[in-house]
Amino acid sequence: MTDTTKRLRILSGVQPSGTLHIGNYFGAIRQHIALQDEGDAFYFLANYHALTTVNDAATLRQLTLDAALDYLALGLDPRKATFFRQSDVPEVCELTWLLSTVTGMGLLERAVSYKDKIARGIQPRVGLFTYPVLMAADILIYDADIVPVGADQVQHIEMTRDMAGYFNSIYGETFHLPEPRLEEATAKVPGTDGQKMSKSYGNTIGIFDEGKALKTRVMGIVTDSTPVEDPKDPEASTIWQLYRLVGTSDEVAAMAEQFRAGGYGYGMAKKSLLEAIDRTFALFRERRKELAAHPDDVEQILLEGAKKAREHARGVLDRARWACGIASTNERR
Ligand code: ADP
Ligand code: TRP
Repeated sequence: MTDTTKRLRILSGVQPSGTLHIGNYFGAIRQHIALQDEGDAFYFLANYHALTTVNDAATLRQLTLDAALDYLALGLDPRKATFFRQSDVPEVCELTWLLSTVTGMGLLERAVSYKDKIARGIQPRVGLFTYPVLMAADILIYDADIVPVGADQVQHIEMTRDMAGYFNSIYGETFHLPEPRLEEATAKVPGTDGQKMSKSYGNTIGIFDEGKALKTRVMGIVTDSTPVEDPKDPEASTIWQLYRLVGTSDEVAAMAEQFRAGGYGYGMAKKSLLEAIDRTFALFRERRKELAAHPDDVEQILLEGAKKAREHARGVLDRARWACGIASTNERR
């Protein structure tokens, strides 16, 4: 099924389950935006997935609009990439069912992300358990070649390949196998407590945080009690790890030098970090304010994106329905 003349198909989703943070930006969103120039990109707001953790209708609607604004402000260009809400292509739900009938319990039981979420107190509901099957359907229904994600999602892409493989081996070649695309340098951005930055850990710095809110987050970064005068290892510091993402190369080298030399306190380093974060996202914040003034335009972009996405999804779903004997002869395309 490999056609060398075909344009690269890139696909990724983001859950609108909370405010997007700079870990999402450097780990995933920045890559998504850059890749829209390298092939046919499909990006969607995974609101069906978000239902596994957000159970308030008004909140989910708001978070979905917010995430759309975030992506558009950060540079997603709807003329280049197909941008839509997952739920506007309900065909993925049908494909989820087809895939679940060939997927062993054992495969899902190995999902690290499920175990993590349960350990953090999220209720073990069926939807949370079968989350990777919906994600596989998301990917396979667009015949994606590459799926740019952060490190925590790679296992889900591997599971997607497994599910596609089971289906293909039972029913014949139906699905195209995707590859994950990982930006190694930023695969794991630390949060203010030094652990992986994550919406669910309360350790985030929001992409659009500004003023006092931004200052509080940055100044609140947890540090050890090494005295100011002692030399410090920049690599071991959350402040420097974050600075590496937002400072110029000269600034980053200079901070590393100051850490190593000693006599440089964490408070000073945090101030430099604050300035660099503020500067990095200033234009995006302005752009977001402009976009937020026209929510109807955003809705229009999402609906047009869904129309395009849906045409493709329908074709792949029909292929799968035919392969497994659900479609009748007169439905064959
Ligand atoms: P969260 O952990 O905050 O809930 P998601 O699971 O919704 O984030 O992740 C959205 C995207 O951002 C995924 O591709 C994920 O791999 C990436 N991502 C999330 N947190 C980080 C991080 N701290 N560093 C790098 N990438 C991240
Ligand atoms: N599970 C992904 C996350 O939490 C979001 C997602 C849903 C996704 N469907 C996808 C990512 C398909 C890539 C491809 O980040």
